[in-house]
Amino acid sequence: MTGRLDGHVAVVTGGGGGIGEAYCRRFVDEGAKVAVVDIGREQGSEVAESLGDDAVFVHCDISDETSVDACRDAVLETFGTVDCLVNNAALYGELDLGDQSVDYLRHVYDVNVIGQWLMCRAFAPTMVRKGRGRIVNIGSIAGYLPLGALAGPGDPEAWSLGNYAYQQTKFAVLGLTRQLAGELGKYGVTANTIAPGLVMTPATDKQVPGGFDQVFADMSASKRNSQAEDMCGPVVFLASDDSAMVNGQVICVDGGNVMPA
Ligand SMILES: NC(=O)c1ccc[n+]([C@@H]2O[C@H](COP(=O)([O-])OP(=O)(O)OC[C@H]3O[C@@H](n4cnc5c(N)ncnc54)[C@H](O)[C@@H]3O)[C@@H](O)[C@H]2O)c1
Repeated sequence: MTGRLDGHVAVVTGGGGGIGEAYCRRFVDEGAKVAVVDIGREQGSEVAESLGDDAVFVHCDISDETSVDACRDAVLETFGTVDCLVNNAALYGELDLGDQSVDYLRHVYDVNVIGQWLMCRAFAPTMVRKGRGRIVNIGSIAGYLPLGALAGPGDPEAWSLGNYAYQQTKFAVLGLTRQLAGELGKYGVTANTIAPGLVMTPATDKQVPGGFDQVFADMSASKRNSQAEDMCGPVVFLASDDSAMVNGQVICVDGGNVMPA
C-alpha cells in the first residue's frame, strides 16, 4: 500500500461489516486512523479491535441527533481531528422490503439521508476550520435504475411500494452531496458520492432474490458484480489529496452498469 492517507483521521459509518468494514481495513492500510462507527456494538467493536491501535469503535445511531453529536465528541476526544467522513451506513441489509407504511418510509429516509446529513453537520465544522476535508457519501446505482422492473414480472398479490423505498433515498444522497459541495468547497472541503453497483456482501445475499445478481452481471460492461474491495480504491482516491478538484460528483463503481451523462 502507498500510504496515501498517512496521518489522516477517517470516520466510517457502518464500519462494522460488509463494504464499510472493507473501507476501514483499506484506510488503515493506507496510513489512516479510523473511527469505526456502527449501530451494531458487537460487530463494530470486533472490526475495531482487529485493527489494533489504528482504530476505535464508536457506537452511534446515525439517525439520532444526540447519538451523532456524542459520536463526534468521542472521535474528536480520541483523535483530536477529522479529515474524512465516509457516510456508508444505511438501511440495506436490514431493510424490510414488505413494509409500505409511511412511518417506515420516513425511517428509511431518517437513516439513509438524514443520517448522512447529521453526520456532515457534526463533522464538517472541524474540516472547515482546518481548511481541508473530504466527505464521501455512499449512494447506489439503485438511484438510477428501475429495480422493480428489472426484478421481473412479479406477483400482483405480493406487489409493494415498500420494496424500493431504498432507491428514492439513494437518489436523494446525490442531492445532499451537491448541496454540501456547493456550501463547503470554498473552505477546502469536498463532497462526492460513490454509487456502488451490486456488491456481493452478506446483506446482498439476504436482500437480492436468486437470479437477480446475474441480471446485474449481464448488464455490466465488465460482466461481473463487485466485491467489497472493489469499492475501496475509488473511496481512498476521494479521501486523498489527489482528488482536491473533484467536487460534487458521483462516481458509479459498477463495472459499467449505468453510465450517467
Ligand atoms: N451491497 C451492495 O450491493 C450495495 C450496492 C449499492 C450501495 N450499497 C450501499 O453500501 C453501503 C454498505 O452496504 P453493505 O452491503 O455493506 O450493507 P450492510 O447492510 O451490511 O451495511 C450497513 C451497515 O450500516 C449499519 N447501520 C445500519 N443502520 C445504522 C444506523 N442507524 N446507524 C449506524 N449504523 C447503521 C449496519 O449495522 C451495517 O453495518 C450501504 O450504504 C448500501 O446502501 C451497497
